[in-house]
Amino acid sequence: EAELLHTFKGISFTTRSSPELLKSLDTFDAREDDVLLVSYPKSGTHWLAGVLAKLYKTQVTITSPIEFGDISRLEELNKLSSKRIIPTHLDYNMLPPNFKKKKCKMIYISRNPKDIAVSMFHYYRDNPNLPTVDTWTAFFDLFLKGNVVCGSWFDHFLSWEEHEDEKNILFLFYEDMKKDLPKVVKEISLFLNLNVSDNDIQDICRKSSFLEMKNDTEKENSDPSHTVCALTSNRKLIFRKGAVGDWKNYFTPKQNIRFQEIFNEKMKLSKMADSFIYEC
Ligand code: A3P
Repeated sequence: EAELLHTFKGISFTTRSSPELLKSLDTFDAREDDVLLVSYPKSGTHWLAGVLAKLYKTQVTITSPIEFGDISRLEELNKLSSKRIIPTHLDYNMLPPNFKKKKCKMIYISRNPKDIAVSMFHYYRDNPNLPTVDTWTAFFDLFLKGNVVCGSWFDHFLSWEEHEDEKNILFLFYEDMKKDLPKVVKEISLFLNLNVSDNDIQDICRKSSFLEMKNDTEKENSDPSHTVCALTSNRKLIFRKGAVGDWKNYFTPKQNIRFQEIFNEKMKLSKMADSFIYEC
């Protein structure tokens, strides 16, 4: 049980991220045209990856996460001849410095942390790579303490938000994608300098709906090296409910007050904290 997770620089990783790989990340060679897809788990990583895969007309490869696998992964990434879209759950401070130096484009997707907690609770229960949690109450405490894989949501978000005004970083919200996906897809295409017609955008959005993506996954065979999440290659675990506000079905009034208190305290210096309020 306990050996499913290990700690590196104070953050929990699964055994799918080897310590040797994590140690060598600092030396990773970025390319100017790399695009990073950054998220805390359960924020909509697969959804955004699905959109990005459809946006490009030229050859691009969505790689497995940079922190996934053993040390040979970095070599494989180096060898890739096509343009790379590289997913990662890493905290800003742990990101290979080369991506920062070369000002690579980075897209950070975030989501109301209450919905993330509920989504992650189910993920913990269904994913054999993660420790067992018995109850929602137990998981709620672990989440608030940051005692979960990838560490504290607050630390993750804040480490990235600090770089919010850098031109090479685009911040997106899951809730905005739910509300108006064409608008967000347009924003992404402008950020990436891609020429996409309104017709293409409509088409991309239709093919990226929750049901379409869920159905696609059920048809395909999972290839274990083909994953955008370092925590599983089993895409069937990803498409659960795809809704905004599911937290209301899990949080007790007392848990909500406690969460809100901690949120207000941790996020008191955050400029983006208000973005989460409309659906809290
Ligand atoms: P739920 O567990 O709340 O359903 P990630 O890809 O970062 O692991 O995030 C997974 C969450 O995104 C899951 O949330 C999943 O259902 C949701 N999701 C995946 N694809 C989606 C889509 N096309 N539309 C809406 N939500 C989607």
